[in-house]
Amino acid sequence: MLPTINPTTTKAWGALEAYFAEFNGTQIKDLFAKDEKRFEKYSLQFEDILLDFSKNIVDDKVRALLVQLAEECGLKSAIESEFSGDKINQTENRSVLHVALRNRSNTPILVDGKDVMPEVNEVLDQMKAFSESVISGEWTGYSGKAITDIVNIGIGGSDLGPLMVTEALKPYKKENISLHFVSNVDGTHIAETLKAVNPETTLFIVASKTFTTQETMTNANSAKSWFLEASRDESAVAKHFVALSTNANAVAAFGIDTKNMFRFWDWVGGRYSLWSAIGLSIACAIGFDNYVALLEGAHAMDNHFKSADFDKNLPVILALIGIWYNNFYGAETEAILPYDQYMHRFSAYFQQGNMESNGKYVDRNGKKVSYQTGPIIWGEPGTNGQHAFYQLIHQGTKLIPCDFMAPAISHNPLSDHHPKLLANFFAQTEALMVGKTAAQVEAELKAAGKSADEIAALLPFKVFEGNIPTNSILFKKLTPFTLGALIAMYEHKIFVQGIIWNIFSFDQWGVELGKQLANQILPELGGDEKVTAHDGSTNGLINAYKAMR
Ligand code: F6P
Repeated sequence: MLPTINPTTTKAWGALEAYFAEFNGTQIKDLFAKDEKRFEKYSLQFEDILLDFSKNIVDDKVRALLVQLAEECGLKSAIESEFSGDKINQTENRSVLHVALRNRSNTPILVDGKDVMPEVNEVLDQMKAFSESVISGEWTGYSGKAITDIVNIGIGGSDLGPLMVTEALKPYKKENISLHFVSNVDGTHIAETLKAVNPETTLFIVASKTFTTQETMTNANSAKSWFLEASRDESAVAKHFVALSTNANAVAAFGIDTKNMFRFWDWVGGRYSLWSAIGLSIACAIGFDNYVALLEGAHAMDNHFKSADFDKNLPVILALIGIWYNNFYGAETEAILPYDQYMHRFSAYFQQGNMESNGKYVDRNGKKVSYQTGPIIWGEPGTNGQHAFYQLIHQGTKLIPCDFMAPAISHNPLSDHHPKLLANFFAQTEALMVGKTAAQVEAELKAAGKSADEIAALLPFKVFEGNIPTNSILFKKLTPFTLGALIAMYEHKIFVQGIIWNIFSFDQWGVELGKQLANQILPELGGDEKVTAHDGSTNGLINAYKAMR
């Protein structure tokens, strides 16, 4: 059982509130001026990853109180509970063991008294054999040709993880396999994908934990019909459709032989499942060894998270800084800004990871919380974001803490692209922190030959208050190992925040209502009868649709 402590009742929270009253207004640049060792004191190194958190509105006292908050909220025992297989997803009575999937030390992890590692390793062996036979061309389609295209059909966690990782690790991609992802129930998604592939050489990976998700089953059925139109042979399905699921009965009912099923377990949350059989498309795209390197990176971060002191623990530090802005400064969002084009789906991935996990207003006692929980997560890769939404971060009315990240070495060292990219990263974090004073603006305008009147008119618009906090995550190169570590770091950050906010991070009841209502509405969309069962707007929309179609 997880602790059920209301964080606002802890001593640390009270002390943080009291200190915030005097600390609010502190300028990060002044913190640097006071302490020339600030960068060294406020940065952490893990393997090839440097986390610089010195550009935050945090001093030693805030840092110590935040660590105390984590301690008072029982974080230590919560981490132990997670890693030892306790059923910490209490509303579903499940363990939370994505860490077992990447437990490369293979130490036993028990669920209901049974070590899960033999089964985890068995599925990994199955994934290895399958991905190798697809990549080598040994696995052939119904007409004897090797597979050239893989279509992963899944949504949410059964899509976003494999998609994000295979994009991020494109430099490692096997050349003979092209990868496609279909998630949206909008027929356009599957239709456009099928236009680009050949049924003789295409493998469909149907990825769904439950194997009941409307979008995925609809897309899988359309893919199967399309395939059967070409092959005209039911028995050929076995060579072209495999399933990744926890639900063997539904897989068999769909017509996929369960020997072509890669299983996982109810203790793997959808948004934490890329480490499970859901990662099959990753293994097929970049090779099993690279997939294992991804698991190894995550495992290394797991070990760090489990053992490092909170004050030196990357995920814990990120989580605590996030809480400081979310709960004391009233920040509502956090931007994740990777300066790496390969990571262009990283923020979208953690949008689900974070918002589905910590978007909860009921605490672990079943009571409505009286404080803010999960932030809104968003972001785009740099430098594109700079030319789109950074204006609001610099001069808008909202405080938006940002995580910047970039590799020191590019996979594409083309002329001076990479130094230019990194110059922008460093410049933005500097600009966000230091801003530009009225005196600086005035001097600049004077030097440009502006009159006193012109300067007075322009000055307010050109001042940047600055003091926008950022974390900088600089890593050597975007390798499978490093990506694994980065993903695990953010996963654990989410865990830590959920523990402190006293919410359950591993269920997602909030997405159920919409699904239920969609199932209710679907049959009403047929026929010509006027629909009156809903509120005025919903009835009006349904009836307008019926009239328009
Ligand atoms: O709608 C939410 C959700 O349950 C996610 O948590 C999950 O990743 C997604 O749907 C897909 O679920 P499944 O893998 O069962 O198809």
